[in-house]
Amino acid sequence: MISPDLLIVGGSAAVTAFTMWRWRRLDGVVDRAAEQGTGVPVELGPAASIVTDSAQLALMWPALGLGSPQTGYPNVTTATLTDAGMLVEVQMLGGQSLQSWANDATREALAAYFAVPEVRVTSPSPGFVHLDLRVKDLLADPAPVTGLLAYGVDLEAVPIGVTEEHDVWRLRVMYSHILIAGATGSGKGSVLWSIINGLGPAIKAGLVDILLGDPKCMEFGAGEGRLWTDFQWTADGIITMLKTAVDALEERKARFKAAGIRKYTPSAEEPLQVVIIDEYAALSAFASKEQVNEGLRLLGLLLTQGRAVGYSVIVALQDPSKENMPNRQLFSTRIGLRFDEPRQTSMVHGDGAKDRGARCHEIPDTTPGIAYVGQDGSKDFQRVRAYWVSDEDTHRIVDAYSPAQPDLSPKADYSGFDPDDLGDESGPLAA
Ligand SMILES: Nc1ncnc2c1ncn2[C@@H]1O[C@H](COP(=O)(O)OP(=O)(O)OP(=O)(O)O)[C@@H](O)[C@H]1O
Ligand SMILES: [Mg+2]
Repeated sequence: MISPDLLIVGGSAAVTAFTMWRWRRLDGVVDRAAEQGTGVPVELGPAASIVTDSAQLALMWPALGLGSPQTGYPNVTTATLTDAGMLVEVQMLGGQSLQSWANDATREALAAYFAVPEVRVTSPSPGFVHLDLRVKDLLADPAPVTGLLAYGVDLEAVPIGVTEEHDVWRLRVMYSHILIAGATGSGKGSVLWSIINGLGPAIKAGLVDILLGDPKCMEFGAGEGRLWTDFQWTADGIITMLKTAVDALEERKARFKAAGIRKYTPSAEEPLQVVIIDEYAALSAFASKEQVNEGLRLLGLLLTQGRAVGYSVIVALQDPSKENMPNRQLFSTRIGLRFDEPRQTSMVHGDGAKDRGARCHEIPDTTPGIAYVGQDGSKDFQRVRAYWVSDEDTHRIVDAYSPAQPDLSPKADYSGFDPDDLGDESGPLAA
């Protein structure tokens, strides 16, 4: 038989736990769980029990080297259930920095302690960290690319995929240059095709020209002579294409200057020129060193001069090392797909990016198309997934958005044409 004393002890422990829960303002956990009548998901059970129990926290902080009886303990201020898990806000101890929490060893130790697969750490404001306990990847399911209505393309917000906030991932194409990097099979092709799909109606309307260099000659042949204004795969062809683009850019720049035009707007007369190169480094397999360097020099000119006059460069590559793409800092948007090594994440997103949440090297190879996006002017990274573009989709995109081909059929009225009439004025030939 259970002793009444034990019941009282049990009851007071439950009351204490509940009080602690409220005291810590764990509104999300309490309210949403109550609302849904489901309670805290089972995968978050250990974490919920720890963040609501000061005794367990007092054991955890010293075990992780984040607090001690002498220095004091960090303070859990709120915990909220999210679609992916639980968000715990913590007030750091004086002297601690984001780095004290976001380094790999601490994140892994936190994940092990809370018994969750992943903990992401960010700092929303000085003195505070967010521990984002993830038990579910919200981007695990592919998002198929969809057709767009033939109007309303915003060249500064082209729909490319989905975000973890269930939003549309949009990319600025005009007034911007985009670098896409990731291991083989990481989904660079789907990012490029998603961009093309998003630009489609504007290509069809003649407001955007796509100049495509595909040294691997693998993925873009379907649009040759139709969707692309220029399509090149040989070293000479790509270099000539870049040279022509640089000359046209110089000419456009001079014309704008003479006319006092300060801001470029696309028109059928002056379409936005989007120069796309898929895997520039592949060129080195069959081009001379001089050709590779000349191509990089021309790309550098487009990158430094193009933005303001309607030239956007999009480069996709597998290996983001300096030798392959020395102009990385000239790309205003950098998209890091899956990498094998953390140092490749840093090559795309810069030193310290890992600690600010860019973890391309942790993207599983089972989810191609997932990327961390960095943008000039923002320290944060967005985790996104490009639309999935199948082979059928690429054909649909080419068919739907290729500009009307020039009509080369005869224009004069030949209805009275007589094939037997050789033009002899005396009339038809006598038999
Ligand atoms: N966004 C996505 N959603 C779902 N599956 C995708 C996505 N992107 C790519 N995939 C799948 O992953 C495979 C590899 O993708 P993709 O060809 O785009 O990679 P890549 O980075 O261009 O590779 P490589 O460097 O070899 O050219 C594709 O065949 C496709 O099935
Ligand atoms: Mg590819």
